[in-house]
Amino acid sequence: MKILVVGSGGREHALVWKLRQSPRVSEVFCAPGNAGIAQLAACVPLAATDVAGLAAFAKAQGIGLTFVGPEAPLTEGIVDRFEQEGLRVFGPRQGAAQLEGSKVFMKALLKKYNIPSAQYEVFDHRDQAVAYLERLAMPVVVKADGLAAGKGVIVAQTKAEAVAAVDLIMADRAFGKAGDRVVIEEFLAGEEASFLAFSDGTTVLPLPSSQDHKAIFDDDRGPNTGGMGAYSPAPVVTPELHEQVMAEVMLPTVRALAAEGHPYKGVLYAGLMIKDGHAKVLEFNCRFGDPEAQPLLMRLASDLVEVVEAVIDGRLDTVQLAIDPRPTVCVVMAAGGYPGNYEKGKVISGIEAAEKVEGVRVFHAGTAMKDGKVVTAGGRVLGVTAIAGTLTAAIAQAYEAVGRISWEGCQYRKDIGRKALRRQ
Ligand code: AMP
Ligand code: GLY
Repeated sequence: MKILVVGSGGREHALVWKLRQSPRVSEVFCAPGNAGIAQLAACVPLAATDVAGLAAFAKAQGIGLTFVGPEAPLTEGIVDRFEQEGLRVFGPRQGAAQLEGSKVFMKALLKKYNIPSAQYEVFDHRDQAVAYLERLAMPVVVKADGLAAGKGVIVAQTKAEAVAAVDLIMADRAFGKAGDRVVIEEFLAGEEASFLAFSDGTTVLPLPSSQDHKAIFDDDRGPNTGGMGAYSPAPVVTPELHEQVMAEVMLPTVRALAAEGHPYKGVLYAGLMIKDGHAKVLEFNCRFGDPEAQPLLMRLASDLVEVVEAVIDGRLDTVQLAIDPRPTVCVVMAAGGYPGNYEKGKVISGIEAAEKVEGVRVFHAGTAMKDGKVVTAGGRVLGVTAIAGTLTAAIAQAYEAVGRISWEGCQYRKDIGRKALRRQ
């Protein structure tokens, strides 16, 4: 079977790497891909959001299965379109993808079905939002309703910061239509974890726990990014908490979506805040996380194609996931200046040497080929991922590999995995 993966990040490199291992797969295409993906798949110069172009390509090539990586095409209805054209595709339809596409939709669903999350109010006028802020104790969290490439959430420590966040979203329209409405939300303290599961609309099959590192600098300082590193498992998700999250978050959410006429098929990702052994939902994503996909897919021993087909056909109850018990750690290497302005086109050296470190794979994110060399082409550039018998060894191997890679201005966090070590 021919497979098409939609997207171009580290997540998609890991997906292509994993899907290619399936004996069911004859050929992998990726649109648009990156320099690392090009070593494993035929890259197609179509944007991930070019839904019509992708559907036409899938038809012309006889693609047997399309796996959609990022949220933008999912919230734009790529799955609905492919299904209308009789194409097999993995991911939630547009209605279900609203869970990520609209924070107002997500918060209202959770409130209606009593799923634990922060208190909140929604505003569609700047002045009303600001008047409400006057009555609140700080900190608060201000969120643009729609997709904002991970930048639409501002944790405000002071009233002035909160008002500035509302103005950025609603007056300056920094995120365009995504800022038609804002959610103003109670600040939740605690430790974050990512809880991902496959869902076929009824059955929820959890992946191992993982933890992202959103802030750019060590010790969670500095502005938020798309994610600077991840590891799996996350010891903050104890077996008891796992049961609680399944019973109070994952299953009720999938049932709620079905009851609302939006059965959820795909990967469901809950971003959780954990305090005193209890989890509340910060966000839902309608896809694999990036970078979480890298450490998770390195631990997944099952044939991903088998799981994906069971989701599409609604028989996930017949599947059990085989998981490598060894921990994995992914360190993201980013361009200097990211998540602000950064330069592209820097020549990257040392990737081959890095991959010689035991248990290491280097997944590409923002990379391209120029004059026969791999160069930087985005903010997050590489996800250096290691698997080892212990977390300590996985961290050491990942950083040994990172140390072999360099380009002008490259930056990365030095503390990926440290939180997990403290809990051992
Ligand atoms: P979101 O895209 O909604 O997950 O928000 C991005 C990041 O903002 C989260 O990963 C948290 O670090 C932070 N965040 C979001 N909502 C809250 C909240 N209610 N309390 C504290 N931090 C939050
Ligand atoms: N790593 C966070 C995300 O994928 O949204």
